[in-house]
Amino acid sequence: MESKVKELTEEVGGVSIATPDEAEQFRLKYLSKKGILAGLFDEFKTLAPEQRKVVGKQLNELKQLAEQKFEQSKELSTNNSSAKKETIDLSLPSEPVELGSRHPISLVRASIVDIFTKIGFTVSEGPEIEDDWHNFGALNFPEDHPARDMQDTFFVESDSDEKWLLRTHTSSVQVRVMKNQKPPIRTISPGRVYRNETISARAHCQFHQVEGLYVDEGVSFADLKQTLYYFVHEMFGQDIKIRFRPSFFPFTEPSAEMDITCIICGGKGCPVCKQSGWVEILGCGMVHPKVLENCGIDSNKYTGYAFGMGIERITMLRYQIKDLRLFFENDMRFLSQFKSVI
Ligand code: DAH
Repeated sequence: MESKVKELTEEVGGVSIATPDEAEQFRLKYLSKKGILAGLFDEFKTLAPEQRKVVGKQLNELKQLAEQKFEQSKELSTNNSSAKKETIDLSLPSEPVELGSRHPISLVRASIVDIFTKIGFTVSEGPEIEDDWHNFGALNFPEDHPARDMQDTFFVESDSDEKWLLRTHTSSVQVRVMKNQKPPIRTISPGRVYRNETISARAHCQFHQVEGLYVDEGVSFADLKQTLYYFVHEMFGQDIKIRFRPSFFPFTEPSAEMDITCIICGGKGCPVCKQSGWVEILGCGMVHPKVLENCGIDSNKYTGYAFGMGIERITMLRYQIKDLRLFFENDMRFLSQFKSVI
């Protein structure tokens, strides 16, 4: 019996199975109830105990080999059938490639840059981590100004004597530009700013501003107004009305805030404009002579105007977005609405 098992082991090892039919034949021949292996096991029972030890092991190995072969043949046939199912129809149109969209804040920032560069403004940028002097001191903020307080400003821990902070406005870039360039200066500075604010539909601790600055001989408030009229009409359309209200900023004198017709209700009055028909979009004024001097510019010879606006506010008006938090949530349902606006 030993030699019979050996012969069969060789035979089974040599069998090659290529089709489901051949697999079934293999199963019937070797593994079925009436197959060769079942016969051998019957014969095995009649052996003497000493013989069983040797033959039993070989017989079990043969059985394993045959079962393995059969299992492998099953995999072969399923692979074949899935391969058949996956035939590719080359005439089908391809999957569409989804285009991404630009963030509404980036879109509006790009429009603002476009509008101002058309009339000769350059674009300048400054660091988001600033020192106290560029953010406050040079801009004529008194030592005890509330904006310097912990409640409004994120201070950055540092070992140096200088106080470091996350800039609270892009007006700090004005200072850097005036220190490094000689008039005439005509520049805008878009960028991210930070304030210690509670997050709500109208405020965030991180947002974007664009600062504008024009310094030259004989620059007047009339120049400022004309530039801002041009900007508003380019951004929101020719029908939009504009008004200036007196205001106060430490770095401009005189200072003003500018309102435009409420885009949402067309000036009739609605919750967004608190029924007034007007919405505020920026602060502006004539650069304070002290600020010019702090930056090394002769205030007897030169005058300048400056303005600063929040990009979120402009974007909310332009696309009629009511909750500022949407800008920071990365919700695809919100962002994908800006696909067509390139
Ligand atoms: N820096 C001011 C703010 O963050 C905005 C501003 C007001 C900028 C008047 C100016 C300006 O340049 O002249 O609220």
